Amino acid sequence: MELEGKIAIVTGGAAGIGKAIATALTEQGASVAIADVREDLALETASGLEAQGLSAAVFPVDVSNSTQVEAMVQAVTDQLGQIDILVNDAGIGQSCSFLEMAEDEWERVMAINLKGAFLCAQAVARRMVERSAGGRIVSIVSTAASNARTDAAAYCASKAGLLQLTKVMALELGPHGITVNAVGPGLTITGSPVRQKPTDAYRTAFVAAVPLGRTGQPTDIAQAVAFLASPRADYISGQVIYVDGGYSAGKLSVRE
Ligand SMILES: NC(=O)c1ccc[n+]([C@@H]2O[C@H](COP(=O)([O-])OP(=O)(O)OC[C@H]3O[C@@H](n4cnc5c(N)ncnc54)[C@H](O)[C@@H]3O)[C@@H](O)[C@H]2O)c1
Repeated sequence: MELEGKIAIVTGGAAGIGKAIATALTEQGASVAIADVREDLALETASGLEAQGLSAAVFPVDVSNSTQVEAMVQAVTDQLGQIDILVNDAGIGQSCSFLEMAEDEWERVMAINLKGAFLCAQAVARRMVERSAGGRIVSIVSTAASNARTDAAAYCASKAGLLQLTKVMALELGPHGITVNAVGPGLTITGSPVRQKPTDAYRTAFVAAVPLGRTGQPTDIAQAVAFLASPRADYISGQVIYVDGGYSAGKLSVRE
């Protein structure tokens, strides 16, 4: 129970990877706020945790809306207490070619994946600094933060931006005892009702480039986040851990 007594916000915690993160932090003793735009799914996730003898509270929010983010962070502080951990997981995918990408689609991806993380981190970090008790911020990026892929211009740019934002925050918030890190999943199959399933062709091509030979599971990602949120990671900041079966280590070479 490494996180006993800690208060954590998990954006996007209603489904997929975020749900596994909310579960892992709760299992470690944290009081978790599931902050998600899908209140229906968030309530389902919270009652699923309750059925396992765990508990989490639900706070509806669209992370791309600064007024809603400020209200959510204040509501969590009022209802659960001062925030120790923020996990920026809320994000959306994208699939269209660079030449065909519409301006509003570009803006939607950037608003949720990049601006949303900025707004949540700023609102939480201001309170952490005021309280002088340190804190943890972990953002979910992607292998796409450093490995470009086709049909994902806005997505890749948003995740690369979030990775760099992570490093800037590590520099500026470190003197306040706040660590800021990122976790970069490879292709992770979640069964989420929100995210579109990858095609079989995409999945096969991805697995062929993964040294460990499989896609990720949500718990693989959640364990890395739980580690970065724990006292075992006290001296780690400004880093990204890719949880991708070795995919981003480099290209497999063909042996003759
Ligand atoms: N699944 C993968 O293969 C994979 C790989 C790399 C990175 N990621 C990243 O991991 C994170 C989670 O992905 P996932 O596969 O679990 O996706 P998902 O769609 O299953 O879950 C995302 C969650 O975020 C919430 N959300 C979406 N927009 C929101 C908004 N504006 N405000 C608040 N909540 C919002 C959704 O309701 C959902 O609960 C994302 O940031 C994604 O980019 C996923």
